[in-house]
Amino acid sequence: MKLLFVYSTWHGTVLKVAKEIISLIDGPADLYDIEKSKIPSLDEYDCIIIGCSVHDGHIQESIRNFISDNCPVSKIFLAGFFCCSIMGDEKTRKVLDRDIASDVLTSFKILGLMGGMIYAKKLSFVERRILRQISFDETMMKTLDDVKIRKFARNFQEQYLVMEKEKEELRKNNGRVHYKAKKPIT
Ligand SMILES: Cc1cc2nc3c(=O)[nH]c(=O)nc-3n(C[C@H](O)[C@H](O)[C@H](O)COP(=O)(O)O)c2cc1C
Repeated sequence: MKLLFVYSTWHGTVLKVAKEIISLIDGPADLYDIEKSKIPSLDEYDCIIIGCSVHDGHIQESIRNFISDNCPVSKIFLAGFFCCSIMGDEKTRKVLDRDIASDVLTSFKILGLMGGMIYAKKLSFVERRILRQISFDETMMKTLDDVKIRKFARNFQEQYLVMEKEKEELRKNNGRVHYKAKKPIT
């Protein structure tokens, strides 16, 4: 497995999730913070996971641009996407529907809404103000869901095996797809 992991984080939750997924997936990964590094060409990999978080109603612009430049990926390339947020799955899904084109969003084989964390000590004055505006309350401080993270990693690994099988079939058939003759319609 040649896995490229691209993420953006404000206070570290997305990185924490990324590291957990990598530890669960069987195989090495190249982990890139999109805000700090140049992302290598996708040609060097056979799968990608993109991780981001919601702030003030949007995912990071860098991730939005990366996705619109590179996705949807080819059919023999596996792409997963996850998002950290605190406002619940329904609201997060609405953010994603707004920020990512629908054909791209549905092209991700594995999509994870992981919940999130608020690290009170790391919040700046401006961030506290933003949180007040989005009706944040104390029960949302720690909604990060380990079960969802494990499920994401498991699904990713399963889908990778499916993709490998499909590639093997393609190789065997030398790129040709064999169609079964259908019964004529009478
Ligand atoms: C200033 C600020 C604004 C936020 N705005 C939203 C928001 O609009 N919707 C939401 O679901 N979560 C919001 N969150 C919660 C983050 O998505 C959550 O803390 C997440 O774990 C952040 O991950 P990160 O630290 O890796 O960027 C906000 C958090 C902060 C600090």
